[in-house]
Amino acid sequence: MAEERTRATAAGVYDWCLGGHHHLPCDAEAAIAAQRAFPLTTRTARYNRDFLQRVVHWLAKQGVRQYLDIGSGYPTAGNVHEIAQASRPDSRVVYVDIDPDTVAVSNGILADDPCSLCIQGDISDPDAVLGHPGTGLLDFTEPVGLLLVSVLPFVEGDVGPLLRRYIGALAPGSHVAISHITAPEGEHARLRLEAAERQYNTKVQQRVNVRSGDEITALFDGTELVPPGLVRATHWHPPRPGYVPGDDDEASGVLLGGVGRVP
Ligand SMILES: C[S@@+](CC[C@H](N)C(=O)[O-])C[C@H]1O[C@@H](n2cnc3c(N)ncnc32)[C@H](O)[C@@H]1O
Repeated sequence: MAEERTRATAAGVYDWCLGGHHHLPCDAEAAIAAQRAFPLTTRTARYNRDFLQRVVHWLAKQGVRQYLDIGSGYPTAGNVHEIAQASRPDSRVVYVDIDPDTVAVSNGILADDPCSLCIQGDISDPDAVLGHPGTGLLDFTEPVGLLLVSVLPFVEGDVGPLLRRYIGALAPGSHVAISHITAPEGEHARLRLEAAERQYNTKVQQRVNVRSGDEITALFDGTELVPPGLVRATHWHPPRPGYVPGDDDEASGVLLGGVGRVP
């Protein structure tokens, strides 16, 4: 029998935060430590997942029928293929994750779906991701929805060249959705987020990096940001008029989200 993993993974911690069933005790321990330092950690994870789901609804309405979801995580209710295929049953989805267990669980769920699959890949190696036989499910001469939802924080350094490589592979009319953690306003909140980041990075295999709003905006170079632009992820096409989950809510303030259209 394989030995149980003892070091937390980004996928396992996120699953714990969302109340899923695919984490191990080490993931829970890392998540609880981050939560203690920054008590809105789990709420931020929920806001992130909600943003992803709203983006896919919106993209499906724009006519997008194929998706490349990199850093897809464990499948929880309301997966990209479920939302996309509810609007357009022929929608195709390629999920990519660095974590082998995430890939195995995803492919177990997708076994009967000829339009979706999950491959193991590192976002930092675009040639391997884009050249993978599994990615061949997508037709890159047609628009694709590229979903980079809370995955870029796990890549260190300048991710600009990486983004240019992925965006360069997309046909006009494609879209790129990005959410990213950022430093909150206010010294007290910022120090607490930094403490949570330190906890996370001592315990989790994939280190997390915070970026500024300007740095996140630059990730959309080569695309046209669609309204409302790069905003708090909670404010991006809110689910109903008047839905503003805490304007003064720190959890909402640490996560920015936006969608760019490839001209
Ligand atoms: C916070 S979760 C986000 C999951 C999903 N995108 C969502 O927003 O609901 C981050 C995911 O990115 C994956 N990940 C981390 N580093 C990665 C890398 N270098 N390449 C691909 N996936 C990565 C983790 O395994 C994890 O499943």
